[in-house]
Amino acid sequence: MFVFGDSVFDPGNNNFLNISVTQGKANFPPYGETFFHYPTGRFCDGRIIPDFTASFAGLPLWRPYLDPANHNLLVGANFASGGACVLVENNPYTLNLPIQLGFFKEVVNLLTQQLGESDTKQLLREAIYISSLGGVDYMTFASSSSNVTESEMQEYVNIVIGNITNATMEIYKLGGRKFAFQSVGPLGCVPKTKAEFNSTGECVEFLQILATMHNNALAKVAEELEIRLSGFKYLMFDFFTSLMDRANNPEKYGFKVGDNACCGGGAYHAQTACGWLTEEYELCSDPSKFVFWDALHPTEYCYSQLAQLLWNGTGNVTWPLNMKQLYDLDIDAEISSQDIDLISDA
Ligand SMILES: *[C@@H]1O[C@H](CO)[C@@H](O)[C@H](O)[C@H]1NC(C)=O
Ligand SMILES: *[C@@H]1O[C@H](CO)[C@@H](O)[C@H](O)[C@H]1NC(C)=O
Ligand SMILES: *[C@@H]1O[C@H](CO)[C@@H](O)[C@H](O)[C@H]1NC(C)=O
Ligand SMILES: *[C@@H]1O[C@H](CO)[C@@H](O)[C@H](O)[C@H]1NC(C)=O
Ligand SMILES: *[C@@H]1O[C@H](CO)[C@@H](O)[C@H](O)[C@H]1NC(C)=O
Ligand SMILES: *[C@@H]1O[C@H](CO)[C@@H](O)[C@H](O)[C@H]1NC(C)=O
Ligand SMILES: *[C@@H]1O[C@H](CO)[C@@H](O)[C@H](O)[C@H]1NC(C)=O
Repeated sequence: MFVFGDSVFDPGNNNFLNISVTQGKANFPPYGETFFHYPTGRFCDGRIIPDFTASFAGLPLWRPYLDPANHNLLVGANFASGGACVLVENNPYTLNLPIQLGFFKEVVNLLTQQLGESDTKQLLREAIYISSLGGVDYMTFASSSSNVTESEMQEYVNIVIGNITNATMEIYKLGGRKFAFQSVGPLGCVPKTKAEFNSTGECVEFLQILATMHNNALAKVAEELEIRLSGFKYLMFDFFTSLMDRANNPEKYGFKVGDNACCGGGAYHAQTACGWLTEEYELCSDPSKFVFWDALHPTEYCYSQLAQLLWNGTGNVTWPLNMKQLYDLDIDAEISSQDIDLISDA
């Protein structure tokens, strides 16, 4: 499994960057308090979605790719980085998509040295490439332009999607076949946005529209790539709806609070950050009763529910496959049956 993305998927890569805490680190208490009992750099009280899906697949929890300790690259690598953007101009501090792609190429070279060309190709064909990308780009866009037209939004979405498409095709060219795309979250419903836009409870509409435009465009591109590229298989995970539903109807899913963050201060516990020594913040006593851990990120308990949906959910949450089906898929058999179809079509 190879993981690309932002803070939603980062297992602590940012710990190894020479950046300040405000530029994107979560390496201080109370982060990590629930499961690890120390701050790992994950933007959560515990495990995150890629940890759960790795466990479901029988793989170990993620170590950051930038961790200099020895890696078992045979199980994959996690390149995700809090604050990571698709567009390089949006955040100079963390690992943007082109940098993450560069690391992946580095891994392909290392694997080729270790296994040889043919076994590496086999490994790359069978691996899942899971990504959570775009959220930071849209938050950046929103903070610099609150009064935008739909066509300006669509133009921006097209640039982000163009770059994601380009990166996906590069991974395909290197041998990747199984892609798991997680949609951008409900950006207008997270505590930080509600606080910034002085919401009286409701989600911020234009960020919801922007996220929806992105998610629709991504689903369309994935569908087109499957038609265009032989052996390309994918899933779209509707993180947006699943998380929004929990934020709006917390009791339905075993939570008590869907609007305020567990950790933080001020309106929605999202005006001052969680755990910064210089600022006042509150910490809830039971994070599993909260949908959101901090101003932007779900709790471990919420992530565990979402990861379960991604892994074996029904077709209204993850389509055309769920992750278990994608994982079990025999790509070589798929490719040869496609070739047979082509022959019989001819
Ligand atoms: C880390 O960043 C600071 C500020 O940008 C810089 O002064 C320092 O030289 C950097 N340290 C390393 C090891 O790169
Ligand atoms: C938002 O855009 C509209 C139309 O372009 C304009 O009339 C209005 O003054 C703008 N509002 C702000 C706050 O910039
Ligand atoms: C990728 O993003 C850059 C801006 O960072 C943009 O100029 C370029 O057109 C985009 N590429 C595609 C294929 O959309
Ligand atoms: C992606 O974009 C880069 C730079 O714009 C270009 O060199 C590369 O060929 C593109 N890759 C694909 C697969 O289109
Ligand atoms: C929210 O309220 C504050 C304080 O009244 C104000 O300064 C700020 O401009 C408001 N923000 C928005 C997006 O309306
Ligand atoms: C998914 O797996 C869990 C156990 O891991 C099980 O409880 C649940 O019923 C499964 N859901 C579906 C839709 O198969
Ligand atoms: C998806 O379908 C299942 C049953 O097929 C249902 O229980 C669930 O509420 C649906 N989820 C959404 C997000 O619509």
